Amino acid sequence: MATSSNHQILAETFDRWAAAGRAAEMEVEHGDVARQVIAGMGIRAGDQILDLGCGNGWSTRLLAKAAAGAQATGIDISPAMIAEAERLHSNTIRARYAVGAFEKLDLPDARFQRGFSLEALYYSPDPAAALVEVLRVMKPGGTFDVVIEYYAENEGTAFWPEQTRVPMIRWSEAQWQAEFERAGFVELAARRVVDSRGLGEPERFKPSLCYPSWQTWSDVHSAGFLWLHAVKPR
Ligand SMILES: C[S@@+](CC[C@H](N)C(=O)[O-])C[C@H]1O[C@@H](n2cnc3c(N)ncnc32)[C@H](O)[C@@H]1O
Repeated sequence: MATSSNHQILAETFDRWAAAGRAAEMEVEHGDVARQVIAGMGIRAGDQILDLGCGNGWSTRLLAKAAAGAQATGIDISPAMIAEAERLHSNTIRARYAVGAFEKLDLPDARFQRGFSLEALYYSPDPAAALVEVLRVMKPGGTFDVVIEYYAENEGTAFWPEQTRVPMIRWSEAQWQAEFERAGFVELAARRVVDSRGLGEPERFKPSLCYPSWQTWSDVHSAGFLWLHAVKPR
């Protein structure tokens, strides 16, 4: 796959999303599920945490605040998203942000106890390479938690690449788990996470790019996000 031209498409697309205020909207859309997953990650005092596809850094800041002395690093291919992350940054939070690609992380080996990625990994032009890179930068025994709404069993999302004009990888839960194992991760676990705020009121529903109708919104919401958990061998 032509990774560099795909990276260019991703950077251009998500720069546009940042300019259009989509990063803040995604915080509203994904915030509840992110909090559920982060609460279940068992982040400990002083952990170093990687946030892949951090967008404007809202989840990076949540991760950094999850335990005393934890430090979070957000990586994103979109310079405009990282500029937003820096603009929104508070010096009281131990977070940093960098422009970079999942498939070639400019980070040292064995740096992180925790990895997290929300609604991002399926955009990778080469998720297998991204998983190998994450394994490299994790400490032995470190955990990687990936959360995605675009996966094969979530049928209501199938039209997203056509709608957004961004290429996406559509794997099933079993395919994702097989790729994690192929990269070298162990102790795979998977579950679905449903937004605890529910569907909301149909009268107040606002159509958007990925949820153009109430029916789509309700199908996708009910299917839930796929939460994949994996461990780097000790
Ligand atoms: C849908 S947004 C999700 C942002 C944030 N995690 C959230 O849930 O609000 C996906 C993000 O992943 C980034 N991204 C996608 N593919 C990437 C890659 N191969 N390398 C680095 N960043 C990537 C995009 O630039 C974008 O900001």
